[in-house]
Amino acid sequence: MVERVPREAQARAAELRREIERHNRLYYRDDAPEISDAEYDRLFHELADLEARHPSLRSADSPTQRVGAAPGTQFATVVHRVPMLSLANAFDDADVEAFDRRCREGLEVEKVEYSCEPKFDGLAVSLAYEDGVLVQGATRGDGARGEDVTANLRTVHSIPLRLEVRRAPKLLEVRGEVIMLRRDFEEVNRRALERGERTFVNPRNAAAGGLRQLDPKLTAKRKLSFFAYGIGTAEGFEAPATHAKLLDFLAEAGFPVAKNRRIAHGAADLLAFYREVGAGRAALPYDIDGVVYKVNRSAEQERLGFVSRAPRWAIAHKFPAEEATTELLDIGVQVGRTGALTPVARLKPVFVGGTTIENATLHNEDEVRRKDIWRRDTVIVRRAGDVIPEVAGVAKAGPREPRDRFEMPAACPECGSAVVRLEDEAVARCTGGLVCPAQRKQALLHFAQRRAMDIEGLGDKLVDQLVEGGVVRTPADLYRLGIANLAALERMGGKSAANLVAAIEKSKDTTLPRFLYALGIRNVGEVTARDLARHFGTLDAIMEASAEALQEAPDVGPVVAESIATFMNERHNREGIEQLRAVGVHWAEGEPARRARAGPFAGKIVVLTGTLAGMTRDEAKERIEAAGGKVTGSVSKKTDYVVAGAEAGSKLERAQELGVRVLDEEEFLKLLGA
Ligand code: IVH
Repeated sequence: MVERVPREAQARAAELRREIERHNRLYYRDDAPEISDAEYDRLFHELADLEARHPSLRSADSPTQRVGAAPGTQFATVVHRVPMLSLANAFDDADVEAFDRRCREGLEVEKVEYSCEPKFDGLAVSLAYEDGVLVQGATRGDGARGEDVTANLRTVHSIPLRLEVRRAPKLLEVRGEVIMLRRDFEEVNRRALERGERTFVNPRNAAAGGLRQLDPKLTAKRKLSFFAYGIGTAEGFEAPATHAKLLDFLAEAGFPVAKNRRIAHGAADLLAFYREVGAGRAALPYDIDGVVYKVNRSAEQERLGFVSRAPRWAIAHKFPAEEATTELLDIGVQVGRTGALTPVARLKPVFVGGTTIENATLHNEDEVRRKDIWRRDTVIVRRAGDVIPEVAGVAKAGPREPRDRFEMPAACPECGSAVVRLEDEAVARCTGGLVCPAQRKQALLHFAQRRAMDIEGLGDKLVDQLVEGGVVRTPADLYRLGIANLAALERMGGKSAANLVAAIEKSKDTTLPRFLYALGIRNVGEVTARDLARHFGTLDAIMEASAEALQEAPDVGPVVAESIATFMNERHNREGIEQLRAVGVHWAEGEPARRARAGPFAGKIVVLTGTLAGMTRDEAKERIEAAGGKVTGSVSKKTDYVVAGAEAGSKLERAQELGVRVLDEEEFLKLLGA
């Protein structure tokens, strides 16, 4: 039985399809979306729903049909009606000048007009549109025959399923490059890492793998992109008179085309284009491996014709490679500002991406294992965009004696503290947070923070100077600073030196939660520090507690407990703490636990709203917590008090609705006993 679809449903489906395709073009071709992802999803789901109710609306060019096909077992062969040629290469200025000379002589003109564009580093494909609808997509293969990867190419969102033209040609083959954006490449590799799979060496390999998946659903996950740069067979199509106009036509028809393209006259112009694109290469969201110069006028292209398998009217001017192979001399370890240990490749110097590289990151121990990298292997080094050079993989294994295998050291190369690697973490870390020179600046800044020891005026510029000048090594050194030490520093007058010394002195009188937080123990934030202080009462109790005992404190799980125990077990850190006590840092021991249990807010849940005249919100929070209460963000039936300052808003209303007790500032202070 033929399904009868109501007129309105037909019209709405057509409208949705047009809208969705328009937003696709805005997003993928123009990089200028007009609606949010959520709104897009709404349109998409409305269309999918309509089509589910009326399956006959589900045409092949519907945007819902991008990932429709079932997995295949192999790809059919496609014979290219017009062969897919390659390009001759130019590597230096002289090659480009020779190309220009050949074109001038062949055409017998003084100056040739060229169309210049980037050379995308991906895979060439050909897309056949019959009467404007995408019917076949094929890889280049050997140029004469490729593979039918239509189902996979349909998942590429920047490939239009229907040409956006007034009169569709009977047949038009659009040619271009399938690529993977750098950010999608990083995402693919991140996911591979999570699953313990091998990562891809570069976006091109990741794109190639994606294109050759037998299951289009897997291709869709790779998020491939497409740029059009030419056409193949055409029937019922009047080809534009120049290449530039052809690209304009393709852009109008819905394809992304290179944005940085330009008309040039003569070799000097070509070289200027090359330098400009080269300089902007790192900032592009995708890899390019050169630029392509094409004689602009189609009539002139025809006159020049072809040599063997490449056109005489075009040439690729290659950039210095972003990849190279070299020998891995050694694997060292670098300690980062947060204590993370990163294996670093020491390489036989190699020229990559325009500079000489001697060191490259190996990320972490698991990466070294997964890529199976050993000392003395020949490796592929890659440097793309602004990213740090990395060892992408092994080109050829070396002798691989036992000493060539990489092992993470057990002690930090900077400070000798123990190195640990917590479960669930890919990264090995130095546990000497308080004493490790690599972590010094970070540790001091954290220590001095307002929410930690609250040393006013000790910012990053000053910490840089103090550490680089060797004046301060550990937090305890701060308390040994005199006005004279400080006044000797750049941009530091006698007055500010005196202020800083006073601020440091003042910070000695602190609380246990602040001190604990200031130590910079991994995974110990302010809340955990407070919970620990309240539960254990004294620093010594915390220092002596086992990982099991630590977990008895509220909200302390195994990971946090392990971090604390590891930190406290490190001799260097214990010494650092002792030094701080010795220079006079102190707090009321045992206080928090007792006061909290007996305090006026013991066990109470409090919400703060509006502005208090006499204290900041942070101070109010601290006072409530010191008095045994807990501060939460939203009012519920469980809330005991809402403290309302000036201009209290919806939280006050909610409290009144629920009948929660509201305290004004005066009542609040009274209850605090202030
Ligand atoms: S034109 C007959 N333009 O480079 C000329 N090719 O080395 C056809 N490529 O197989 C190619 N960006 O995969 C052309 N803007 C561009 C290109 C480009 C990348 C690739 C293409 C081709 C290879 C030739």
